[in-house]
Amino acid sequence: MPTYVTTPIYYVNAMPHLGHAYTTIVTDAYSRFRRLCGDEVRFQTGTDEHGEKIAEAAAKAGETPREYADRFAAAFRETWPHLAVEPDYIIRTTDPDHVATVQRILQLVHDRGDIYFSEYSGLYCRGCERFLTEKELVDGKCPDHLVEPLPISEQNYFFRMSRYQDWLIDHIKTHPEFITPERYRNEVLSFLSEPLEDLCISRPTSRLTWGIPLPFDDKFVTYVWFDALINYLTGIGYPDAPDFPRSWAAAEHVIAKDILKPHAIYWPTMLRAMGLEPFQRLHVHGYWNVDATKMSKSLGNVIRPKELVDTYGVDTVRYFVLREMSFGLDSSFSSEAILARHNADLANDLGNLFSRSLTMIDKYAAGRVPEVVTADSALPADLELRAAATTMLDHYRQAMDSFQFHKALQAVWEVIGLLNRYIVTNAPWELAKDADQAATRLPVVLRMLAEGLWRIAVVLGPVMPATAGKMAAALGMGERFGSVRIDDLQGWDTLPAGTVIDKGAQLFPRVDRPKETPAPAAPATNKKKGKSTEPVAADEGLITFDQFKNIELRVAEVVAAEKVAKSDRLLKLTVRAPEERTIVAGIAQFYEPADVIGRRVLIVANLKPAKLMGIPSQGMVLAAKEQQADGSERLVLATVAGPIAAGSRVA
Ligand code: MSP
Repeated sequence: MPTYVTTPIYYVNAMPHLGHAYTTIVTDAYSRFRRLCGDEVRFQTGTDEHGEKIAEAAAKAGETPREYADRFAAAFRETWPHLAVEPDYIIRTTDPDHVATVQRILQLVHDRGDIYFSEYSGLYCRGCERFLTEKELVDGKCPDHLVEPLPISEQNYFFRMSRYQDWLIDHIKTHPEFITPERYRNEVLSFLSEPLEDLCISRPTSRLTWGIPLPFDDKFVTYVWFDALINYLTGIGYPDAPDFPRSWAAAEHVIAKDILKPHAIYWPTMLRAMGLEPFQRLHVHGYWNVDATKMSKSLGNVIRPKELVDTYGVDTVRYFVLREMSFGLDSSFSSEAILARHNADLANDLGNLFSRSLTMIDKYAAGRVPEVVTADSALPADLELRAAATTMLDHYRQAMDSFQFHKALQAVWEVIGLLNRYIVTNAPWELAKDADQAATRLPVVLRMLAEGLWRIAVVLGPVMPATAGKMAAALGMGERFGSVRIDDLQGWDTLPAGTVIDKGAQLFPRVDRPKETPAPAAPATNKKKGKSTEPVAADEGLITFDQFKNIELRVAEVVAAEKVAKSDRLLKLTVRAPEERTIVAGIAQFYEPADVIGRRVLIVANLKPAKLMGIPSQGMVLAAKEQQADGSERLVLATVAGPIAAGSRVA
């Protein structure tokens, strides 16, 4: 089966940051997953280089648009290898074949009567590079760029988008997978419930020359979005490449919510006007914020992918973003969160499972995978583990296919947890002490561990390619790893008995907390002292009472609450605990200010102060988060069961 999957093409006026990295890692992981399922995959990314924004930025930098675009296009291209992202094709909208394709399509749509010339007056946002409708404005301003759009009146060419409105509504309604998650599909349908205007697709050369000239009027260049969307066709050789029809029939686009409208409305109607079928699926994700604040250059909190990789390692970065964000919802990056995932999920749960299992195979089975477990030697615990690993494969596959990466990883980590418990309950070091058990039960247990690890290595391949490769190599499966398919894991005994394992590999060295980072609420290490024949301490990841005591939890009474301007997540609370202090809490999507005034909540009282949207916050309000069936989250404040004085210590 073919798969053709794309990222947006990124504007060349900013250096790559966490947001660009996320979309591209998602698309890379999905491509690798599809290959694991046996598909022929084509994965495309690229850069969007024309338009006013780029021309202006180049002028500011004292460069020609071409020089400027070359510099940034190279920066994007150079970023991907650091993130283990391996696109099959990187397109630039300044590539000659793209320019030719755009002109060919403009001529086609013009010849078909869907492009006309007219005078237009409207409100133009330079940041969005499009005319906005009155309805889209918030307090007279563009909600994304927070500036008043300029009234512009000029003659231009228009694409008859309105003609395709009914068709588009029908297509979205009859193809539930066309736009996912559902909230974005609903957003598009709601937008389409109003009459659709035609799309202005040209800019006069008197105003802008950095663009693709219209083939039927050289006094105009092409509007940047009409140019940019066509990259998805150029990259697979529209219209004449022999593989074009096959690839296009499998097209899937990955974007964030900021560019939903061009992808869900302009693009399908443009395709229809060209006489092409629409793409198959549009996957829309939310935004990464940083420490609950919008990531922006002016706030100085932009996260650069290369710096993250230098600190945490590429696989940790990939795992973190895929595990932490529920695809479709916004997520907040913090160094505490990535550190906690690195140390708990990776170094502790997976890394220790791996090293202790291999150490035991080395020690108790002469470093070789034991014989196949015959049905009559399997105990209920073995059968349970096998069943769980098989179910995990189904859940993983289904979740990866529907872009629920966090759920796919949760399913894998459930089996990692089971394997860790299997070691504790079967205590191979005890079995080794009894000659009979050492000959019969011990090889069974060790083989179960090796098979479990092999499955984990295979399914982690798309997310953490280097780690998975290391695991496979250590299990003596390095050569098979490149060609293994998920279907090869059906059945249990996939590892040849006698395969030599390599116990030396360490997957995740622990990363220490950067000095300026406050202590995470989650634990650091707790090294077990004293002698034990067990290779790795079983209580890694737990905290001591002393560590817990360092966190000062108190009851606080909310005496005032208000929404934080320009944030839909934050409430500014004034609490008494017992002295008065301000806490900025990310609860505004779940509580109105009036709902919380007078409540007694629980707070972390000794958290280092931090500024959120410019407001100093002295502490953190505790709340429980619940994952809903549709992937969204519900949040409920933690509170006390009876009357108690504000300021009381919680222990
Ligand atoms: N050039 C257009 C896209 C044309 S596609 C035919 C564009 N470029 S962009 O450089 O602004 O990239 C926008 C995309 O970058 C988002 O849709 C998303 O994929 C990614 N992100 C940028 N900031 C982001 C976050 N803060 N969080 C998550 N992803 C975001 O729009």
